[in-house]
Amino acid sequence: MSNDFVVELDSILENRINELSEQMKGNANKDVKIPAMKNLLMAALKNEWETTLLTSHWVIDEVDCDFRISLARLAGDEAKHFALIEERLQSLDGTINNEELNKRSPLFHYLMKQKTTFDRAVTGPYAREALAVARNQVFLEHCKDLKDLKTIELYNKIQTDEAHHHQLGRNFLASTINSKLDLEKAKTKVLEVLSVVDEIQEMVIMKMGICRLPGC
Ligand SMILES: [Fe+2]
Ligand SMILES: [Fe+2]
Repeated sequence: MSNDFVVELDSILENRINELSEQMKGNANKDVKIPAMKNLLMAALKNEWETTLLTSHWVIDEVDCDFRISLARLAGDEAKHFALIEERLQSLDGTINNEELNKRSPLFHYLMKQKTTFDRAVTGPYAREALAVARNQVFLEHCKDLKDLKTIELYNKIQTDEAHHHQLGRNFLASTINSKLDLEKAKTKVLEVLSVVDEIQEMVIMKMGICRLPGC
C-alpha cells in the first residue's frame, strides 16, 4: 500500500537502524570481543523467548482483531525460532537455563508499557522487527566469515519470518497513518524504542565488549 507518510517514517527508521548496525558490527572499537557461537546463540534464544512472551501478552488484550491475529502469528513464529535455535545450540553442546530465561530486559519492560494498537504496531512489529532483520544480517555475515553453514541455513529461514513481521507492522501503519500528526506520533515512538535499544547495545558493547549478537 502506498503511503507517503510511511515512506518518510521508513527513512527515519532505516537511518537510525543503520547507525545501530554499524555499532553492532564492532569494527570501530578494537577492544570488542566477538563471543563464541554458543554464546551468540544463547543471546539469540533469550531474545526469541522475550519476544514470544511480550507478544503473547499483547495478544491477550489487543482490541484490533486483525492486528491481534497478526500478533498471535508473530508470537508463534518467535516460539518456532526459539525451538530451532535451541536445537542448533544443543548440537554444539550448549544449553540455556531457566534463571537466564526468566531475567527480563529493559526493552521488554518498555514494550510492556505500550497499550494502544498504534504504539504497539510502531514499537513492536514495525521498529523492533526491522532491527531484528538488520542485526541478523550482521550475525549472518559473521557466520559466513566462520563458514558455519548450518547456522547460515537456519538464519536464512528465520530472516524470512522477521522480514514478514516487520511487514505486518508496516501494513498496519500504511492504513493508519493519515496525517502529519499521526506521522509525528509514529516518529516519536520509533526514536523512543530505538533509544532504549541503543542504551542496551551501548552497555553490551562498551561495558562488556560484546558485539554481533543476533536479534529476533
Ligand atoms: Fe520477529
Ligand atoms: Fe524471531
